[in-house]
Amino acid sequence: MLEIYRKALSDLEHDGRLRALAPRLGHDFSSNDYLALAESTELAQAVQAALERGVPVGAGGSRLLRGNHQEHEMLEEEVARFFGAESALYFGGGFPANSALFATLPQAGDLILYDELIHASAHDGMRMSRAERQSVAHNDPQAFEDALKAHKGRGRVWLAVESLYSMDGDIAPLGDLMALADKYQAMLVIDEAHATGVLGPDGRGLTSAFEGAENVICLHTCGKALGGMGGLVCLAKPLKDYMINRARPFIFATAPSPLMAGVVRASLKLCQEQPQRRERLAALVDFTGQRLRKMGVAPSGSQIQPIIVGAPDAAVALAKKLQAKGYDIRAIRPPTVPEGTSRLRLAITLHVDEEVMGRMLDDLAQVWSP
Ligand SMILES: Cc1ncc(COP(=O)(O)O)c(C=O)c1O
Repeated sequence: MLEIYRKALSDLEHDGRLRALAPRLGHDFSSNDYLALAESTELAQAVQAALERGVPVGAGGSRLLRGNHQEHEMLEEEVARFFGAESALYFGGGFPANSALFATLPQAGDLILYDELIHASAHDGMRMSRAERQSVAHNDPQAFEDALKAHKGRGRVWLAVESLYSMDGDIAPLGDLMALADKYQAMLVIDEAHATGVLGPDGRGLTSAFEGAENVICLHTCGKALGGMGGLVCLAKPLKDYMINRARPFIFATAPSPLMAGVVRASLKLCQEQPQRRERLAALVDFTGQRLRKMGVAPSGSQIQPIIVGAPDAAVALAKKLQAKGYDIRAIRPPTVPEGTSRLRLAITLHVDEEVMGRMLDDLAQVWSP
């Protein structure tokens, strides 16, 4: 009865793509807890304070029913203020937030032009959308413009990108894309998942220059640098109201934990009050970049550094060697990344310092060269 599943698993194993859960072991080079907030005393205290003021752990229902809590509304108000948006909508995760926005907002007859490296959550949303979709070469504004020019339909065009790409650590040409969106009256959707909290003034991400624009929608996730959980869609008020009425993952789901909403509010406050976390991280990224250059590896310039290996088996074998030396480094394989680009994804976080980073790179250089 389970034969097809066993066969699929053995095929994955044969292709070097079988995945299994593994415990956290060794120095953190793989989490997205870039600012080390997830385990911070500050956020633990925020949980305690929220519990003391009576904030419930669970929402008990959909936001459209009794699940709507003052903590959600306070968070959304604070988020809109912080990110300079007209309004914000809080989801239990970045994935449902992103897939909901793509599934809900583009209409039949619209076209979504998406960067070929965009996250799985956007793909899932687009699959559910009634709009057409078309992939565009990575980080290539000319390719976006060519596709915009070629669009003959009467519907709206949506441009979909990440600001800081999750697997390559490179940055989208947002200024050019914003100019295209304005020129062609397109909507621009920017996933800030890996930039939120880390980049931009006060950690407001790379879209801070376009804050408040009616044709820009930003996704900020709370489970990465903000150290909590959830997804925040920043958008114009009519679009928020439309999502409240039409987004199935919002309507037919238990609302996010009000306690977590309180925690995320505390994270945003820490982003403003503790610039030293971002400064420390930037210094560590700089240090890592200098060391990588000496090894013949081009630094990404951000806290996400790919070490491209090629074949899935080879990436897994390299990760295992480094794990054996005490570093929690994971191999990333297709379909998460394109064929032939299996890699180690080094995440640079405040859980390590220059000494550990230096040692890890020395150990890496002993078993691998570009
Ligand atoms: C670019 C990007 N967008 C969205 C998500 C989903 O966010 P979350 O982890 O909060 O569900 C991720 C998570 O890996 C991501 O990397």
